[in-house]
Amino acid sequence: MTLDSTTLFTREYQLQTMMGPSCLRILDELLARVDLPPGARVLDLGCGMGLTSMALAKGYGCTVTAADLWIPAEDNARRFAEAGLADRVTAVHCEARALPFEPESFDAVVSIDAWHYFAADSAYLSAHLLPLLRPGGFLVVGIPGLRRPFERIPDDLRPYWVDGMNFCTLSWWRELWLQCTGLTVRHAFDMRCHEQAWNEWLESDNEHAKTDVVMMDMEGGRYFATHGLIGEKLAW
Ligand SMILES: C[S@@+](CC[C@H](N)C(=O)[O-])C[C@H]1O[C@@H](n2cnc3c(N)ncnc32)[C@H](O)[C@@H]1O
Repeated sequence: MTLDSTTLFTREYQLQTMMGPSCLRILDELLARVDLPPGARVLDLGCGMGLTSMALAKGYGCTVTAADLWIPAEDNARRFAEAGLADRVTAVHCEARALPFEPESFDAVVSIDAWHYFAADSAYLSAHLLPLLRPGGFLVVGIPGLRRPFERIPDDLRPYWVDGMNFCTLSWWRELWLQCTGLTVRHAFDMRCHEQAWNEWLESDNEHAKTDVVMMDMEGGRYFATHGLIGEKLAW
């Protein structure tokens, strides 16, 4: 489905609620490759302040579970109620490695700019995520990563490099997903919206965006990419 979900919210509201490169740009580019069924039940995993959760409900007609660790569920629930979406978006506070949902509860799991924090090992998909998807359901992930592998971290990138931040190449993620026998990888690609998504984030007053301005100025398009990965749970 093709949609520009940035038209659903004012620019000011987006700048207040995004927590990284424009999650709406990333969401739209990913969902242009996926046919979600009408009224799809979607888990937005690592939803942050819920901007993509609201877009999924308002623009894509989904019923959304908005799950996050750092942002209190009460704050997100208030935001969803203020947006008139309390009946279609439910806020849940949880850890991605201890998800409190019944098996096959979702038609799709969407995760934007969060997956690298908790899913960078071969067991995550089969142990934690796939049981929650119905057979034929989609896993839709957008994450920051590397354009190409390094033998060692480049000196100019080192001040910004945090151990465990799991910025990896697209082929690294693709290989990891291919190890999971219950999932077929439908798409693995570097996203066209990468530069625009970052530029929009760097306009935000968020204190992390201010640090990122310096990092992205140094980076100059040499190291980073935004990876898109879409998988489908096998139906057996
Ligand atoms: C950079 S923010 C992105 C938020 C939002 N998706 C967006 O793009 O604006 C990363 C989010 O991942 C969530 N997160 C990180 N580790 C997590 C974990 N172990 N379980 C659940 N959520 C996690 C954080 O709570 C945070 O809101």
